[in-house]
Amino acid sequence: MIKPYYQDTYAAIYLGNCLEIMPELEAIDLVVTSPPYNNWRNKRTQASRASYWERTNITYKSYSDKMSDQEYRQWQIKIINSCLAILKETGTICYNHKDQIYNFQVTSPLEWILESNATYRQRITWNRGGMQAYNPIRFYRVEEDIYILGRNTSYKWNKDCAKYLSIWEINPSPKEGHPASFPSEIPKRCIKAFTHNNDLVLDPFMGSGTTLVAAKELGRKAIGIDIEEKYCEIAVNRIEKAIKRDRMSFHFDRKEKKRGEIWN
Ligand SMILES: C[S@@+](CC[C@H](N)C(=O)[O-])C[C@H]1O[C@@H](n2cnc3c(N)ncnc32)[C@H](O)[C@@H]1O
Repeated sequence: MIKPYYQDTYAAIYLGNCLEIMPELEAIDLVVTSPPYNNWRNKRTQASRASYWERTNITYKSYSDKMSDQEYRQWQIKIINSCLAILKETGTICYNHKDQIYNFQVTSPLEWILESNATYRQRITWNRGGMQAYNPIRFYRVEEDIYILGRNTSYKWNKDCAKYLSIWEINPSPKEGHPASFPSEIPKRCIKAFTHNNDLVLDPFMGSGTTLVAAKELGRKAIGIDIEEKYCEIAVNRIEKAIKRDRMSFHFDRKEKKRGEIWN
């Protein structure tokens, strides 16, 4: 059994390679994740404009995010299949990724998703409202995607969430000490749509722990994995703060209730 880096009633965090840790985990209701994008080729084409690269791309603390296309595709197929292997029959995977552009040619994540064992159910387009820098060589790109995958065509679903539509307008949020954190509204919508109270959510590329904090705030349990200790530390701090916020609001609610009892 692998020992967690952190554990409380709501969350467990593992430091290490998600492919090695996932087979050890219990059955999961929902995976929400954003893997590294393998964008290094952009870096090469932009080498003469280092400041442009710095503004527009992501450099992790130690993870190089540098594989050949073939290697990256095979890795991502393995990741999706490993998530499926621990996903409950009625579970869902929300896989955030974006088209890769190199040499004026586009590769879509769908190319490897369709090679995995997953049932492809829907694509959500996330309109970020703008990227960090404007590069006027093509239509200005503002979107990423969230691919909704599963084991089956029948799955747990809260139908009130149909109101979110299939295009989500969500601005990027402050970075939380991590170069690529997503806004908490992304995991929140996924969690609300595909889980119930106390269900278990997994983010195998946890980064700063945005998915875990969102799960905690919505009354779900969560597991996060990251290969970088610094990001695990950031996630632990964010979860501890969320727990404190929760306790404070519980305390205030009780106080208000007591006052109400006296006044009534
Ligand atoms: C795009 S970031 C995720 C950011 C996250 N959604 C957030 O809001 O902070 C991808 C993360 O995957 C981690 N990573 C890379 N390879 C990994 C592996 N094999 N297993 C686990 N984590 C890995 C990186 O350290 C990085 O933090």
